[in-house]
Amino acid sequence: MKRLVVLISGYGSNLQAILDACRRGELPARVVAVISNRADAFGLQRAIDAGVPAIPLPFYKDLHLDRAGYDEVLAEVIEQYQPDLIVCAGWMRILSPAFVRRFAGKIINLHPALPGTFPGTHSIEAAYQAFRRGEIQRTGVMVHYVDEGVDTGPVIATRHVPIHPTDTLKDLEQRIHKAEHELLVAAIREIIEDRG
Ligand code: GAR
Repeated sequence: MKRLVVLISGYGSNLQAILDACRRGELPARVVAVISNRADAFGLQRAIDAGVPAIPLPFYKDLHLDRAGYDEVLAEVIEQYQPDLIVCAGWMRILSPAFVRRFAGKIINLHPALPGTFPGTHSIEAAYQAFRRGEIQRTGVMVHYVDEGVDTGPVIATRHVPIHPTDTLKDLEQRIHKAEHELLVAAIREIIEDRG
């Protein structure tokens, strides 16, 4: 059983997809901890409901931690759980270079756009608007290893997602999220199988 630590910032529907796949035996893995940089993230409740340690780790300005300092604390917490893989599933913080080096080859990220497109936040809306301006015909989702950039790094898996002229933003969001839930579980399974 591979050990997964999942990093989240919000709703946690992708975390739920991982938890469900583990429970059904579709992933030879166990989520050993869920960490959120937001104390009010609904995903923490999903972890509690699944019997997984749920760790809020908000960024306290009054602790005078900079990004590197916060990431050191984060790394210390993560290391206690000895993960084989760290999964950023809606983790909306940029990880510092030292953190990325410390866990080299062990951190993956899910992003709701195709490689090289719409990095950062509000990516689905950005793709939707680009479609409406006639700049793109389709969008997609990807899972990649994390490097020192924003939503960049060696690509593990991608899936195209169509955009239809009649789509509302909500329609596209739902189609993207469905694709993400499937792709993320498939990508984790592929990594586990490759590593044996
Ligand atoms: C997902 O769409 C994920 O791809 C995105 O945040 C959402 C989290 O949803 N991540 C990024 O935009 C990273 N740049 P969830 O909390 O329901 O899993």
